[in-house]
Formats: sequence, C-alpha cells, structure tokens
Amino acid sequence: MTADTPTTATSPLAVLKGLAGLRRLTGMYPAGHPQIAQKLAELDDLVQQHVQGGHPLRIDVIHGEVHLDGVSFRDDSQANGQLVGELADLGVHSLHIRPGVVRAELQAVAEYLWQLKERPGGEPVETELARRQVVHVSLGRIVELDTRWKAQAWPDAPAGPLDPAYAESLLRTQQAFDTVASGRPLDALTVRDLVQLLIGRVARSHAALGQILAVKQYENLTYCHSVNVSMLSLLLGRRVGLSDDTVTALVEAALLHDIGKTRVPLEIVKKPGALDKRERKLIEAHTVFGAEILVEVQGLRPLTPTVALEHHRGVRGGGYPDLGQGVAPHPLSQIVSVADVYEALTGARSYQDPTPPEQACLVLARIAGEQLNTALVKAFVDTITFFPLGSLVRTDRGETGVVVRTTPGDPLHPVLSLVDDDVEGPLGHVDTSARDGSGAYLRHIVETRRPQDGALDLTRFLGPAPAGA
Ligand SMILES: [Fe+2]
Ligand SMILES: [Fe+2]
Repeated sequence: MTADTPTTATSPLAVLKGLAGLRRLTGMYPAGHPQIAQKLAELDDLVQQHVQGGHPLRIDVIHGEVHLDGVSFRDDSQANGQLVGELADLGVHSLHIRPGVVRAELQAVAEYLWQLKERPGGEPVETELARRQVVHVSLGRIVELDTRWKAQAWPDAPAGPLDPAYAESLLRTQQAFDTVASGRPLDALTVRDLVQLLIGRVARSHAALGQILAVKQYENLTYCHSVNVSMLSLLLGRRVGLSDDTVTALVEAALLHDIGKTRVPLEIVKKPGALDKRERKLIEAHTVFGAEILVEVQGLRPLTPTVALEHHRGVRGGGYPDLGQGVAPHPLSQIVSVADVYEALTGARSYQDPTPPEQACLVLARIAGEQLNTALVKAFVDTITFFPLGSLVRTDRGETGVVVRTTPGDPLHPVLSLVDDDVEGPLGHVDTSARDGSGAYLRHIVETRRPQDGALDLTRFLGPAPAGA
C-alpha cells in the first residue's frame, strides 16, 4: 500500500505512519539522534513530493477512514487500521500541510504531538504551533473529547443576497424535508411543484447556478445540498442528451436522494469526528431509509426510490448498501453520484474547508472508473468547467474577477467581470481566452479565491436569466 496504489501517487497512510513514527522517536531519543534525522528525512521526502506542484496535502480521518484531499482512501488492512486507531487515540484526525513546508516544521509538529500526550491541557493548538514557528502545517479538529480543538463553525445556509428563485426553492425544500422529519408523509404534488420551480426558474438563472457551482461557504445541511445536487444533476443530464421528461425524473430523484437522512439523528449527520460502528451504520442506512420513505409516496416517478437507494454505490459495485457484486447502479443514480460528490466537496464541513472547483474536478477525475462513471465525470467537468460561473478567481496579471461566462471547449479560460481588492465592481470584462499574435494566451487564471466573509453578491454580476444559454 504505497506508491503502487492506483488512485493517487501519495499514500496518506505512509505520511501518517511517518509522522506517528517520528513522534515516537522524538519521545524516545534526544534531539539530533540519527534515527530521528533519518525518519524526518523520509517523511519530508514524502511530503515534498506531494506539495512540490503547489498543492496542499490534506489528510483527514473521517468516520475512521483516511481521506486524501477529501476523498476516501480505502485500505482495510489490519496494520493500517491499527495505525489509524493509534492516531485517533493520539487525537489526530486531520493534518493539512501547505507548500513551502520545511523539515524543521515537521519535526516541531512531531514534538508537539508527543508533548500533547504527556501534557494534555495547555494552549490552543494554533498558538502552540505558532510558538514553534510552524506556519505550513495545521492540525484541525483533532481531539474529539477535548473542546479546545474546536471544529470551525460555518453558517447553515448561504449568506448574502440570493437569486430569488433559488431562495424560494431552498425554503420550500426545507419545508418538505421538515415535514418528512416530523413523521408526516411527503406530498407528491409539493414535490412536483418544486421540480417545476427548479427546472423552470432556478436552472434558467445564471445567478442561481453561480451560487450553486462556486465554492460554498456554508455547511449545507440536507435541504441545501439536495437543491444543489438536483441542479448539478440537471446540468449533467442535459449535457449527456437526456430527454426533457427524463431530466424531470432526474431532478426529482436528485432532490430526494438524501431524504433518508431525516431519519438519522442530526447530531450524527453533523458529527465531525470519528463515528462508532453503530453511528456509521445509521448514516449508511440513509440510503435504505430514503428508498423506504419514497416507495410509500404515491405519485412519484418510479426511479426516485432507486436513486435514493443506489447513490452511494460505486460503478464497479462497491459502496453501500451492499446490493451484491456486479450490480451497476442505474444511469440516473450514476449521474446523481457525480453531482453529489462535487457538491459535497465544494461545500464546507465542520471538518473541512470547501474545496475550490478546480480541485474538486481533479478529485472527480481521480475516483472516476472505480467509484464514478468516467464518461459522466468527463461530461460533468466539461459542463461546469474548472472555474465555473460565479467563481471568484485571480489571474497571473494580478487581476481578480468573477466568472460570468465559460468558454466552450476551453474550460480554463472563461470571461471575467473584474473587481477591485474589496470585490467591488464590476470594473469591466476581460476574456481570458484571448491570445496574442503568436497564439499565446494573454493571461491565465491562477487560482480560485474565497470571497471574504462568504459574501459575494453574485446577483450583481450574473443575471437572473441566461443570455442565449
Ligand atoms: Fe447520500
Ligand atoms: Fe448527498
């Protein structure tokens, strides 16, 4: 389980193992001991390999499973299970390392983790790390029973002005989900009206799509997530040529794919730390609960319960619930799965910062073939592009702008509406796909920026109805 792992070049387990080993050695030997130096060099090599391209290394142990850059890194071998257990005992659930990290910082982190065990109490982790001159490593949400290590609190819903149709769909979906959560039956007519609102108005609004596609600085609970997944599914469904009627069925199924979570206690749905076996079983049961709830509702489309049941199944038959090997999920379930993963990555969680779209696209590409349908992932990335509508981005000329139009066939070079440092604007448009006389691009986008305080009023940049889309 090292470099030959097919899904990624960096093994998060090797990094965790290196850090755990280094921590133990710093406790056993005096500083400067050759054993420490050797272990430190090994760990440093591993880390530098990953961060040298400018990519941060994000390892999280969520629900007992190791995630690299937000994606589950499956390995069920006993030795690794023990390692994860050992780190969990230590309190390590999350390790983020940024480019620029130096060896001394890794050593300081290992020393800190050793002292933490011996001397629990003390200053908050950020203070302790800063005191040790560690600036490129953070240990987020770590000690579960220790409230000093607070999870970051994100708002529960989008902040700032929303497209009116999008706002209305969120409100009505919340009401529908509350109805089911309180044990009352879901009404198929309510669902039908909502689907009409989503297809007829939300999907036609550039401002709404921008708010759904760009980084989401809120912890989207089930109803926001559901609306977003239904709109992303619609974009993908249309892209692959589904008929209007099938798109309607898809939007309904996507909207209700997580309805089973209304039967799972909220504290478990939101719990950022490791889940025990019972809690994990309950979370996974939202698929079966959802199908059970939906088959009881007269008047829904026949595939709606199927998608709820299957949306966590992989195309190769893995995932949950266990429906037997060799049973590929229905194509509509496969579409919802792609939208679901993208939506979850680009949204905030108490245990993770939102992933920018360009990185989320790379994550989708990494799990295509195994978990997700490769052709659907390609079509999805083609549709939303690396810098989707509504993204706040920076160019290599130091300009900041909001993506207001994507360029067909050139997903890296959209049209921007420029803003100043305080995100005030618009200050005019630039087309980043423009080239000079020799054919070279005049500018490139360097990165997605997160708007300060989460409030970027997209309605000022993107209209409620798309022009010629
Ligand atoms: Fe789900
Ligand atoms: Fe979901």
